Amino acid sequence: MRRVLTIIGLVLGAQAVGGFLFAWSGLYSIAASKEHWPPVHWFFSMAMRSSIETHAAFVSDPPDLDDPALIRRGAGHYEDGCAPCHGAPDVGRNPISRHMLPAPPFLPGHAGDWTDKQLYWITYNGIKYAGMPAWPAQARDDEPWAVAAFLRRLDGMSAEEYRRLAFGETTPDGDRSALSDLAMLDGSAREVLDNCARCHGYDGAGGGPGDSASAFPRLSDQNAAYLFHALKAYAEGGRHSGIMQPVAAGLDEPILRTLADHYARQRAPYPPPPADADPALLALGARLAESGDRDTGVPACSGCHGEDRDPRYPRLDGQHASYIADQLRLWQRDAHGDTPLSRIMGAAVRNLTEEQIRALSLHYAQSRPRETAGEDSAR
Ligand code: HEC
Ligand code: HEC
Ligand code: HEC
Repeated sequence: MRRVLTIIGLVLGAQAVGGFLFAWSGLYSIAASKEHWPPVHWFFSMAMRSSIETHAAFVSDPPDLDDPALIRRGAGHYEDGCAPCHGAPDVGRNPISRHMLPAPPFLPGHAGDWTDKQLYWITYNGIKYAGMPAWPAQARDDEPWAVAAFLRRLDGMSAEEYRRLAFGETTPDGDRSALSDLAMLDGSAREVLDNCARCHGYDGAGGGPGDSASAFPRLSDQNAAYLFHALKAYAEGGRHSGIMQPVAAGLDEPILRTLADHYARQRAPYPPPPADADPALLALGARLAESGDRDTGVPACSGCHGEDRDPRYPRLDGQHASYIADQLRLWQRDAHGDTPLSRIMGAAVRNLTEEQIRALSLHYAQSRPRETAGEDSAR
């Protein structure tokens, strides 16, 4: 028995030394220009698929992936973050990425091979040794669901539908309020703004008409100082978002300031308030916003978010309810960011209950800044 074990040990040891010498000699070619030997290709594909299937089984249940706002948000990110490697319905695959090994597959035709949870897992974690990157903000494990919601629709999507989802429907001519303002921007700021407008519109209203409006936060009428600080926090990685961080990184301060000023000057129409809002919930929201709740240690929001406060603190009136609720939940699980401003806010809302979050987001989505109260239909 002992002799058998010794022989096995010697054989394994010789193999390890042989393998090391082969790698060290440089005879093995790591050239991406030559395909793998078929059995090796099969082995890698099998290992990748098995790993994804096993790990995705532990992903928690998805949110509603039919939500048009989620699909629109995922499409907006896909254009920047995935299409350069995987292609999109309106353009084929980039000739450079086709020469990667493994080559990223043309996804509009492959996404359906995976389940919702597997698409989420791949988007959040990436694939080691394949060149498939992980989600750029690991604190934001909520965001990749938007991409998964979009990927589910991708197989067979027409080029027109893709452009509507990834580029939005606003044109500078469509946003009358934005048009005169655009003339003031110089060439490079205008080019950057064209990309922002894919998601936020030129007037900063959000994700466009109808159900997808809440895909992106409203920037119109916001304090310029707040917008600038938010952009700088994304650019420096202090505020977490795998969607906004790559967009803002690399833009210098004067451009960020110009973009913040542009959106703060906009006067986009507010979306109509939801018709079926529960009056009791609305009343609770109004009460908390004005006076807080001493028993549970919730401070009055108006102390910091009222009119004429610190301009680095955001206005909340007319912001999309689902966006407000999502941000509040980020602070509760410590995933918003680690800037001084983010910490001030985090300390204020740590104790909110889920019901209070829904009440407050409904309240603020319905309220309007004082100077525009009563003129909803005109704006
Ligand atoms: C730098 C290029 C690159 C980028 C950017 C990229 N991927 Fe990938 N992706 C890859 C490569 C390479 C693979 C692995 C292909 C393989 O091993 O078969 C891959 C695999 C995948 C797969 C599995 C596909 C299959 O059927 O084999 C999915 C799904 C996927 N990526 C989604 C995404 C999404 C969503 C994004 C954007 C958030 C993205 N990828 C960004 C390169 C990229
Ligand atoms: C791919 C879509 C997309 C693009 C392009 C994009 N944004 Fe955003 N933006 C988002 C999303 C999604 C959020 C919410 C992120 C979060 O949860 O923190 C956001 C948040 C913001 C915020 C914070 C708003 C708030 O109320 O806190 C600002 C400011 C902003 N974007 C400005 C810009 C500017 C300026 C550009 C162009 C340089 C731009 N965005 C391009 C999707 C986009
Ligand atoms: C002590 C001051 C303070 C109090 C009290 C406060 N906030 Fe804030 N809030 C802030 C600051 C500062 C920010 C900006 C954080 C950042 O830039 O990261 C903020 C940001 C927010 C945002 C994000 C807005 C956006 O556009 O992304 C929401 C939503 C919000 N607060 C809601 C509330 C609610 C609801 C309450 C009451 C329960 C409240 N806040 C109480 C200081 C406060």
